[in-house]
Parts: sequence; C-alpha cells; structure tokens
Amino acid sequence: MKAIPGHLWLGLGTGALALGMAAGHYRAQKARQSWQASCAVAGRKKALITGASSGIGAEFARQLSALHYDLILVARRHERLERLAAQLSEANGVQVEWLPADLTQYADVERVCEHITKLSHLQLLVNNAGFGLEGRFAQSDLQRQVDMIELHVLASVRLMRAALPGMIERRFGGIINVSSLAALVALPMHASYSATKSYLHVFSMALHAELRSTGVRVQALCPGFTESEMHGPADNSRRNDLPSFLFLPASQVVRESLNALEADRGLCIPGTFYKFAGQVVRIGPVADMVTRLMASRD
Ligand SMILES: NC(=O)c1ccc[n+]([C@@H]2O[C@H](COP(=O)([O-])OP(=O)(O)OC[C@H]3O[C@@H](n4cnc5c(N)ncnc54)[C@H](OP(=O)(O)O)[C@@H]3O)[C@@H](O)[C@H]2O)c1
Repeated sequence: MKAIPGHLWLGLGTGALALGMAAGHYRAQKARQSWQASCAVAGRKKALITGASSGIGAEFARQLSALHYDLILVARRHERLERLAAQLSEANGVQVEWLPADLTQYADVERVCEHITKLSHLQLLVNNAGFGLEGRFAQSDLQRQVDMIELHVLASVRLMRAALPGMIERRFGGIINVSSLAALVALPMHASYSATKSYLHVFSMALHAELRSTGVRVQALCPGFTESEMHGPADNSRRNDLPSFLFLPASQVVRESLNALEADRGLCIPGTFYKFAGQVVRIGPVADMVTRLMASRD
C-alpha cells in the first residue's frame, strides 16, 4: 500500500481544523441569532437583580427598566427597593416587584429560588449582591467570612440552578455574575473577597462554554473600583487615598456589561484602564508581585 505523503496529512488536518472552527462559529452564530430572536418574540422580558437597593445593582435596575424589562428587585433594605420600584415603574411603564431577602440565609435564598422556578419568562438573572471585607483572616469575625461565602458563592449558585432549566427549555436567557477584578489575583487582607469572586469568575467562564448553543448566555462581570456605597461616602478617606480616575461610574460598568452580554462575551472588564490591568495582572510573575505587595501593606 502506498504511504500518504506528509503534505496531504497536513492538508487534511488543516481542512478538518478549519471545518471544526467553522462549525463552532456557525453554532455560536445560531445561538446568538436565536437569543436575539427569542428576546423579540418573548414579548415581556423579566430580570431578577440581587443587591438592587444601591450601587451597581440599582443601576442595573435603571438601565434594564429603560430597556423595557419588568423587574424583580432583591435585597434586605425593602424601603429602598420599594422606592426604586415606584420610580422605575412610573418612569418606564414596567412592572417592578421587590422581594426583601437576606441572601446569607438559606431560607431566604430558597424563597427567591421558588419564586424563580414559578416564573414563565425570566430572561436575565443578575447575581450582584455582595460586600467587602478587609483585614487579616486569622483575626477576623468568622461569621462575616462565612456570610461572604454564603452570599457570593452559595446564593449565586442556588439562584443559577433555579433559573437555568427554564432558560434552557425556552432557549433564551442570560446570567450576569458580578465578580471583580480582585478575582484575577490572590489578594492578601481580602482573602475571602478575592477567593469568592474567583469562584464566580471561573464558574461563569465554565458555564459560558458549557451552555454555548443552548441560547443561554453567562457573563463574569469583573469591575475595578466602582462608585457605590461599598466604598462609603464620596468624601471618605479610603476614596481620597486613591486617584479619582480609578473609580468608574456604575452607569458605565452596567452599560459595558449589557453590551458584552449582547455580544455574548463571557468576560466583561469595564473601562480601558481596567481591561489593560486585567490582562497584565494575569501574567504569572505580575500576579505574584501584586500578591507580595499587598501582603507587605499593613
Ligand atoms: N464598588 C466596587 O468597587 C466593586 C468592584 C468590583 C465588584 N463589585 C461588586 O459589585 C457588587 C455590588 O456592589 P456595589 O459596589 O454596588 O456596592 P453596594 O452599593 O454596597 O451594593 C451592595 C448590594 O448588595 C446588597 N447586599 C449586601 N448584603 C446582602 C445580603 N446579605 N442579602 C441581600 N443583599 C445584600 C445590598 O443591599 P442591602 O444592604 O439592602 O441588603 C446592596 O444592594 C458586589 O458584589 C461587589 O462585590 C464592586
């Protein structure tokens, strides 16, 4: 038997690779079209936002209501949710419900999950509720550390698991998990924060790939410093320690996130400076240097 020449193998291999890539591209394109088409035919769109009582979550509520999404707002401060709900339904003619819940508490998370499974057209879930913790782990309040894991990781995972079957069945839907730039590097003094946000980042990227061609999109949103109540009032010392250009308005963060969802990008790092920083910080030696630098601060 005659041996097949090397260049023929090379040609066949390249052809197969090109075909595989074209098929992948076609599947992704189809999923994108079906997502957009579904949005159009689905009529009313609904989004559930956790941590909607302030900052980035409240801004998601504002921008999504302007895009004619009906909303379900979740957080602990119900009077804030109630006020925001009234403002948005009046301004944009959408239906806005509010669901007071402490998402560090299993029973409250279950109540929100039950609500989700009963919805017939949940288009978007935004897992945004979160808080910061600074200081040495060994001297910290253990309950706060556990609360952070409950809120950032377990509540988000439970809400996603409740939302996804319906979204997959309807072949449309999106999930935005608000992670952080702090997810991209190990941050001493913020160990639980960077670790829980890393979980959200990696989990979202994996789901984004896993759900390709189902019509459901998942995004890890990794903002740098953003103007919100997380950093306290605008005139506090923490903010004054940092150059103001580092703080992005929440409106920009949300706008870039929604644009990235439209383009089906699994990772969104808002702002040109942070996009660049996000690339650099992931280079092994740079990441090590940042970790060592942060550890040496007191
Ligand atoms: N600001 C930044 O620089 C920055 C940067 C990267 C990522 N992030 C992330 O962005 C997300 C939003 O934060 P933000 O900056 O907008 O801060 P924020 O203004 O303090 O908002 C935090 C939201 O989370 C809610 N929340 C906190 N604990 C909760 C709990 N146990 N149960 C239910 N809801 C809870 C708060 O509502 P209630 O107090 O009413 O419950 C509030 O609505 C967080 O996940 C944060 O980690 C922020």
